[in-house]
Amino acid sequence: MGVRRMLFIMLVSALFMLFNSQNALVSCALSSELQAKINAVNEDGPYIGLVIPNSFELDPLLNNSDYISSGYFIDVSGRRFHFGVIGQKPVILVITGLGMINAGITTQILLSNFNIEGVVHYGIAGNANEEHHIGDVAISHFWGHLGLWSWQRNGLGPQDKLPFEENGDYTRKYGYLRFADYTTSNDSVIAENSSYDNLLNNIYYQPEEVFPIDGTPEQSKHVLWVRVDDTYYNTASRLKNMKLEKCINSTTCLSHKPKLKFVTNGASASIFVDNAAYRSFIRETFSVTQVDMESASVALVCYQQRVPFIVIRALSNLAGGGSSEDSEEAETFASLVLNNSVKVVVEFVKLLPASSLSSFKTKTSSIGRVRLSEDFADELFEVQYARTRGEHFSFHKNLQCNSDLQGTAWGGPARPLDAQVR
Ligand SMILES: *[C@@H]1O[C@H](CO)[C@@H](O)[C@H](O)[C@H]1NC(C)=O
Ligand SMILES: *[C@@H]1O[C@H](CO)[C@@H](O)[C@H](O)[C@H]1NC(C)=O
Ligand SMILES: *[C@@H]1O[C@H](CO)[C@@H](O)[C@H](O)[C@H]1NC(C)=O
Ligand SMILES: *[C@@H]1O[C@H](CO)[C@@H](O)[C@H](O)[C@H]1NC(C)=O
Ligand SMILES: *[C@@H]1O[C@H](CO)[C@@H](O)[C@H](O)[C@H]1NC(C)=O
Repeated sequence: MGVRRMLFIMLVSALFMLFNSQNALVSCALSSELQAKINAVNEDGPYIGLVIPNSFELDPLLNNSDYISSGYFIDVSGRRFHFGVIGQKPVILVITGLGMINAGITTQILLSNFNIEGVVHYGIAGNANEEHHIGDVAISHFWGHLGLWSWQRNGLGPQDKLPFEENGDYTRKYGYLRFADYTTSNDSVIAENSSYDNLLNNIYYQPEEVFPIDGTPEQSKHVLWVRVDDTYYNTASRLKNMKLEKCINSTTCLSHKPKLKFVTNGASASIFVDNAAYRSFIRETFSVTQVDMESASVALVCYQQRVPFIVIRALSNLAGGGSSEDSEEAETFASLVLNNSVKVVVEFVKLLPASSLSSFKTKTSSIGRVRLSEDFADELFEVQYARTRGEHFSFHKNLQCNSDLQGTAWGGPARPLDAQVR
């Protein structure tokens, strides 16, 4: 009896879910207008996607004289995509929000919907390397997510296998943190006793499970360090002597002349690191310079979608504080530091070859301040700069359909991922 009853309930729930999801798809299908907008802007691509953690980091780019805003944006699945031009490159700007999940979702929505030739992620980052200073802009060669752990049972050690290690799911090969090594005591005898224990024992850093679009679905591979695109990295290296701002006014200057630095590794996790001991640990164990909460996520999405990417992040302060640079200095120079990262981003985008812009027929639109392709300019004129505010509003209203769909589908208009092979 119990089983039949349960089957009945499952059937009813399944029908209910099916009904609901079809309803959702129908209501999205009505917004063919949104898909048409996306298709239209995609014809003006390919774009460089500028993926930005938050509005504090977006503002200086919006204000930069080399960025020409189209004033045009499209909202998809709760994210706003702004369209503009830097140099000869059409660009899409999007804010991710804080942390690894937000950064991953936003990057995937960008790549699934828009015609993107590469991703530039920028902002500010913590610094784990005392050779570098506040205001230096750094470009890491590799990015890794250091928030995926196997946390070992107390009583076991580096000689013991991790759970599921034999299946190839977890590994001891990348490195581990032993909590007991961070015990403090004013009894130096105890502190120096190497067999001092801690119930938290050890955590082992794990590579990410990845599913590249040219791999076999459902067959995972593992990656810890994702390499920045070689062409982008080499292009950026041409900027290594570029001048960065040192002073906010005639009297207040950074103690070191800021430089563009090329460093080995950057690390991200959904963890705000303000701890000097942990900073030293990741520096020593993983050769990390940049520490942040999004970059590795952007890297992992781009890696799996086979889209070139680079991360350009200015160093704000030493994560966890230090003697030479205090948080007061970081605060005083926050805007300068950020402006320097934007400066590097703009110069980097300007260096990218214009060859991929064969379809990009620049013209001055009737708005006068926007140079975009004919289609795009016409779109702009019709939609965004229409004479009446009413038209403008109805455009936004149409986009709402899409945001309503959050959670039921990937924003509806997403192109299937497997159509994204490039
Ligand atoms: C920079 O952008 C912000 C936000 O868009 C704005 O409030 C500010 O006035 C701008 N600054 C300049 C110098 O344009
Ligand atoms: C030693 O640690 C105890 C407990 O934390 C503290 O009360 C004491 O002041 C410390 N002594 C010294 C000399 O630091
Ligand atoms: C050091 O650790 C060992 C093993 O736990 C213990 O037997 C010994 O008493 C400790 N020595 C000190 C000075 O704490
Ligand atoms: C320069 O900026 C600093 C920090 O904002 C401020 O304290 C100082 O008064 C400024 N000096 C001048 C000459 O504007
Ligand atoms: C950063 O750039 C903005 C405009 O983009 C400007 O208003 C601001 O003064 C700059 N900050 C510094 C410290 O140079």
